[in-house]
Amino acid sequence: MGADENYQFNAKIYDVLDRTYFRKAASSPRNAVISILGDEPLKVLDMCTGTGANAFAIAGARRNAKVIGIDISDAMLQKATAKLGQEGISNVKLIHMNAANLKFPNEEFDVVLISLVLHEISPDLTGQLLGEARRVLKNAGKLIVVEWEEPVSRFKRIPFYLVKKTEHAGFENFLKCEMEQYFFRFGFEMTQTIHCDYTKVMVLRKDD
Ligand SMILES: C[S@@+](CC[C@H](N)C(=O)[O-])C[C@H]1O[C@@H](n2cnc3c(N)ncnc32)[C@H](O)[C@@H]1O
Repeated sequence: MGADENYQFNAKIYDVLDRTYFRKAASSPRNAVISILGDEPLKVLDMCTGTGANAFAIAGARRNAKVIGIDISDAMLQKATAKLGQEGISNVKLIHMNAANLKFPNEEFDVVLISLVLHEISPDLTGQLLGEARRVLKNAGKLIVVEWEEPVSRFKRIPFYLVKKTEHAGFENFLKCEMEQYFFRFGFEMTQTIHCDYTKVMVLRKDD
């Protein structure tokens, strides 16, 4: 099943994630992503933006940033588009596009974000996405990756169990993956990791 078919149903309920797992502002991965960005005018690509949670959070907090969110799922993009009017934010653009074949020139973006995507795609698609992220990122730019992380707290393990139940068989192995080595294979070097609720936010730069 392709991402588009998968997300026909998921789009209807997807934003529950932000109202439950990521509801605490101080430890939300959405806010951690914003904290990494400077105040200078930035061009940001939110690859696989889904319903636009990160794209809108960044655009709202950094009014001088230009944020482009792309996704392959019409259903997810429709949800994101509905928010465009509601949130009164003018510095976000949403585009239907395959992240494996981006229609942007080389070194176009200061920041590329890939949030909650890599754990659920095939190794082939991972290679294509990270290859495209590397191509469109400026040499001094930042790749920001948000991914699930097994919580230490006993109280958080039960809600996290529900996440695991909805994920594919390889999810447990992905959680155990040594991330520095994982990204090194695709030409990125890890510079920072922020641990958030149920997730970690990793900051990477292109290696030389
Ligand atoms: C779990 S959602 C993550 C959404 C969002 N980034 C977030 O942090 O909430 C994964 C998204 O990846 C999108 N996706 C999967 N493969 C894609 C591809 N090849 N090109 C663009 N989007 C893709 C799906 O349509 C879906 O919206």
